[in-house]
Amino acid sequence: MIIPVKWIDGAVEMLDQRLLPNEEKWLTLRSADEVADGIRDMVVRGAPAIGVSAAYGIALGVKNFVGTSLIDLEEEFEYVCETMGKTRPTAVNLFWAIDRMKRTFQKAKKDDKTISEIKQILIADAKAIHEEDIESQRLIAKFGGELIEDNSTVLTHCNAGALATGGVWGTALGVIRGAVNQGKNISVIADETRPYLQGARLTAWELLQDDIPVTLITDNMSGHMMQKGKVQAVVVGADRIAANGDTANKIGTYMVAVLAKANNIPFYVAAPLSTIDLQCSTGDEIPIEERNIREITHIQDIQLAPDGISVSNFAFDVTPNNLINAIITEKGVARAPFTESLRNMFDD
Ligand code: MRU
Repeated sequence: MIIPVKWIDGAVEMLDQRLLPNEEKWLTLRSADEVADGIRDMVVRGAPAIGVSAAYGIALGVKNFVGTSLIDLEEEFEYVCETMGKTRPTAVNLFWAIDRMKRTFQKAKKDDKTISEIKQILIADAKAIHEEDIESQRLIAKFGGELIEDNSTVLTHCNAGALATGGVWGTALGVIRGAVNQGKNISVIADETRPYLQGARLTAWELLQDDIPVTLITDNMSGHMMQKGKVQAVVVGADRIAANGDTANKIGTYMVAVLAKANNIPFYVAAPLSTIDLQCSTGDEIPIEERNIREITHIQDIQLAPDGISVSNFAFDVTPNNLINAIITEKGVARAPFTESLRNMFDD
């Protein structure tokens, strides 16, 4: 069972995903700044995992506060929230977790809690965010698994697995695990996912651990596999879903969605409600992270491209809603028109 981030003995433990699959090393992070660095530097990655980590990082920052003034505590809390918010811009789960921790802080303050009580309340809420995330993935696995037919090969892009979430299931890989648990015969095609290779390094590693048959391909092979009838469904995760269903996910997802449409293959997005941003009315409003060009010019220390070359390194793209057959959440399956079906997911 993979759980990539944990709160243990008053510190945050993270499985260093930069080293997988070659090394399984855990880092112990003892300050909010270290957690923020861990998110920024991709020790932990994947939208829900970033949200859970940020919540733990905020709790850690407040736990480490040594003063006796509530005003100073609040100042420190705001600073820590701001630091977390500057780590990665696209995954909305980060901002969702920060907002929730802010509401929890304000409620504790309004309830006249002491500094020591506020610290405990924030730690408890970060743990609750983590547990709720795992439960959401379990439900996504159940609902999504039902959409996948027996004897299917499912193509996925990037890593939307246990590593990318609070753990255990994952979103896209949760759907695959759900279908397998329902007794279906499922195999997976994993795009390698240049430039960061989340597919080759992480999805391949996760699925091998679970004995789910997986074949690794280069990103430019997926069209050929679809054309040859080797793919029955595509399932991906999401970093931010706009109110109209437009979905930001790992760079290359849009290409896969276009190819799926051209080949009449269902394209599913799996994500918890914490990934849906009703404040963004369309995908045009989603901020897209641009990362260091070295990720493209080099593989580890090996230089691939000539010095001085101009490079673009967009980490995400937006798949328009008309290419998406369904969005699978913990509340069930949303279909077009998404503006209505996604909004309904938030009604209790
Ligand atoms: O840059 P990353 O590795 O954080 O990007 C991750 C993805 O794009 C995932 O598909 C997405 O966060 C969904 S994770 C359940």
